[in-house]
Amino acid sequence: MTRPRLAILLSGRGSNFLALHRAVDSGDIEADIALVLSNIDGAPGLDKARDLGLPVRSLPHRGMKRAKHEELVLEVLREADVDWLCLAGYLRLLGPGFVNAYRHRIVNIHPSLLPAFPGLDAQGQAFEYGVKVSGCTVHLVDDGMDTGPIVMQEAVSADGVTSAGELSARILEAEHRLYPAALARLLSESWRVEGRRVLFD
Ligand code: GRF
Repeated sequence: MTRPRLAILLSGRGSNFLALHRAVDSGDIEADIALVLSNIDGAPGLDKARDLGLPVRSLPHRGMKRAKHEELVLEVLREADVDWLCLAGYLRLLGPGFVNAYRHRIVNIHPSLLPAFPGLDAQGQAFEYGVKVSGCTVHLVDDGMDTGPIVMQEAVSADGVTSAGELSARILEAEHRLYPAALARLLSESWRVEGRRVLFD
């Protein structure tokens, strides 16, 4: 069987990308990272990918209509012949056409226990709310904001945290475990989507 080809899409520092890369490197994820793509020119995650010798592309969205930008991204993804898209801090909402082009093959990690605290700064939202438990969620991507079917979640205690930054750090540690684990399951096990549920056989 040919190994699945992954594209990582990121907008920032890329620590989740590095966690996925480590898992690919160690063989925990049986796939190849065929492309690391960003909508932000100077995204630190792109430099990290370049340093690792991976193919990178920068496609800035600034000043471009969403549909046009998505068309360009899709073109680059097709050229790279990728099978799966892993969003790793990719700060763009994806339109229905884009999502359908890779139906149930786009994965995202979000730093809260969805459906709590979707959208930006989930950790800050959770801290302000005063939660005792938060965590992270790996989900398949649909065209809503962090609304797709959940693949795996990991809870993180928020007990005793004194800042949003401290909560973010605790959650990030869990993210780096959960994302590779969830992707490895999706790629190696048989599963289906029923309604909102991802069911592993
Ligand atoms: C992570 O907290 C992830 O859950 C969210 O964006 C952040 C990206 O961080 N979607 P990094 O770029 O992977 O370090």
